[in-house]
Amino acid sequence: MATKEKSVFFCKSCGNESPKWFGKCPACGEWNTCVEEKEVRSKKQEDRRQKTEVVPMPIKEITNAEEQRITLPFEELNRVLGGGLVLGSLVLVGGEPGIGKSTLLLQTALQLSGKRVLYISGEESQNQIKMRADRVGIHNENCLILTETDTKEILKHFKDVQPDIVIIDSIQTLSSPYVDATAGTISQIRETAAEMNKIAKTYQVPVFLIGHITKDGSIAGPKILEHIVDTVLQFEGDRHYGFRILRTIKNRFGSASELGIFEMNANGLREVTNPSEFLLSQRDEEVSGIAIAATMEGQRPMLIETQALVSTAAYGTPQRSSTGFDTRRMNMLLAVLEKRAGFRLSMKDVFLNIAGGIRSDDPALDLSVVAAVLSSNADIPIDNRTAFAAEVGLSGEIRAVTRIEARIAEADKLGFEKIFISKYNAKGLDTQRFHIEVVPVATVYDLATELFG
Ligand code: TYD
Ligand code: MG
Repeated sequence: MATKEKSVFFCKSCGNESPKWFGKCPACGEWNTCVEEKEVRSKKQEDRRQKTEVVPMPIKEITNAEEQRITLPFEELNRVLGGGLVLGSLVLVGGEPGIGKSTLLLQTALQLSGKRVLYISGEESQNQIKMRADRVGIHNENCLILTETDTKEILKHFKDVQPDIVIIDSIQTLSSPYVDATAGTISQIRETAAEMNKIAKTYQVPVFLIGHITKDGSIAGPKILEHIVDTVLQFEGDRHYGFRILRTIKNRFGSASELGIFEMNANGLREVTNPSEFLLSQRDEEVSGIAIAATMEGQRPMLIETQALVSTAAYGTPQRSSTGFDTRRMNMLLAVLEKRAGFRLSMKDVFLNIAGGIRSDDPALDLSVVAAVLSSNADIPIDNRTAFAAEVGLSGEIRAVTRIEARIAEADKLGFEKIFISKYNAKGLDTQRFHIEVVPVATVYDLATELFG
């Protein structure tokens, strides 16, 4: 068989392919991300690539079948997938090592009843998987474990087993015989992912790919993988705390801003269906610097706690740091407080934290951040039955946010007594149906007066 050998250069960050070396990636502009790989494509592969049987079709003649979905045992997983697992979809589950990706998918496989699942592992032995399975409990006898990394063999077994769902743990261990590069290289990841996609699409079987994440937080075997797959889920959370967040990064079949919450305990993962109660810290005493925001994560309202600590800077340059909230946005809010409401914060250290390891970019968090900062600055606690939901603009005005009724209803449901919103959101709002007191405010100055007199 004639082979053609060539060197190709890839960008580690975006997967851009180039025939020659580069210092700065021409596609994404990153420096020093170039890696060289030998790519030997056999002729056979080129033949294989040319086979396509689809023909162009007038759009009117394409039947619009509703996408069919499998309902998985974890409601939180169904939610981030946009309402269940779509047949024929390729789903990438990324996360740092040890976060619980294998556990999540093995547990899903084991608890799914009436479906045949093929769990292919290139990372652990059958014994190791069995030990884990015993830990989380086996309910599905139709879960088959295969330890294989060669995609050609996988396809063979796939045809024998005829599973309803395939799980690959992990994409970095797969290797295709059609590409002469070691497993985990960009050429292999690209090729094997494309092959798995072909299996998914040809046989209309959903395939989960587990993918590792590099230190800088991107999925190893980079962006190119995100383009191939239909859905990207990211499993994150602090390894030292029990809870884990499953976040939708991309979804061809649903919203890309959904969030699922799990808790890891001695016998596997447990889903957290009441995230608000879980995210609000239990406190007996009232402390200053804490405010609760009524946010929306995807379709779901969620109350999360914003914590601020404002103290006099010990050194000349004040420190500003934030976890879970955009630091630039925090600096902007501090500048607004300084300029529009006369709070002298420029010589203060300000630390901001979103409790529970949550990251959020909902603009409705602004008002809560501002309230937490003001509370810490004045050292006056805010009643812990008070919530906030509004955006803050550059002139200190309090702006309306989307889905205000859902936010108010969630706070109401959890027994909050007061919620501060923008006066523009209050127009036409039927506050009679809530028990909670709705307080419209117009500017940050108003907010400070309402809160601390
Ligand atoms: P794992 O699923 O192997 O992570 P990943 O596949 O993302 O690398 O999860 C490993 C961690 O989870 C490990 O630190 C042990 C912990 N764990 C539990 O706490 N309880 C359990 O029941 C299981 C199976 C794992
Ligand atoms: Mg694993």
